[in-house]
Amino acid sequence: MDLKTFEAEAWAALDDAAADPQAGFRYLTLCTVDAELRPQARTVVLRQCADDHRTLTFHTDVRSPKWQEMAVNPQVTVLGYCHQRRLQLRMPGRAECYAAGTEVARAAWRALPQHTRQTYTGGPPGEARLAADEMPDASAAEAGESRFGVVIVRVSMLDAYQLQRNDNQRALFRYASEGELQASEWLNP
Ligand SMILES: Cc1cc2nc3c(=O)[nH]c(=O)nc-3n(C[C@H](O)[C@H](O)[C@H](O)COP(=O)(O)O)c2cc1C
Repeated sequence: MDLKTFEAEAWAALDDAAADPQAGFRYLTLCTVDAELRPQARTVVLRQCADDHRTLTFHTDVRSPKWQEMAVNPQVTVLGYCHQRRLQLRMPGRAECYAAGTEVARAAWRALPQHTRQTYTGGPPGEARLAADEMPDASAAEAGESRFGVVIVRVSMLDAYQLQRNDNQRALFRYASEGELQASEWLNP
């Protein structure tokens, strides 16, 4: 396999996952750094992949700690492992956060099914649960829009690691701000 093919396969796998809930890279780990400089990690659903610009899109609640963390420090890493492909992708990048009122958030909200909108009707994520938070009503679903945020990660590096019995492969790809490939090389696994 050459570097170009390896890179293309990795991005194709991410592209597939944005459209297919069963795909290996559908659930990714988004890592941020908090105000105490501690690493924080959580699972998020990959909503979109623009493989031409090397961006990954996620949805979240703007009241969540991760949102605040990215506002202070937009440096993030996205990690994925596809068991079927035996492929790990580590992707440091920069998060752009689009809150309610932005065109990006408005367009994404419009496309959400009602049951997903309901996700944003409860109390603030991570806070102690109150009985009132457990009963979202239909009108609250629309109120959810004010809490809905879109995170677009511009991937600056892709570290791809293919497990292969006696011949593990690892390569690093570096991207410019608009996603152009700047450099690539094989690494010792
Ligand atoms: C399978 C799965 C998928 C999830 N997808 C998302 C998601 O797309 N967006 C999101 O904000 N949280 C998602 N979560 C919840 C997060 O993992 C996390 O618990 C929550 O967002 C609070 O994170 P924070 O406290 O670091 O902000 C998901 C959890 C699971 C188990």
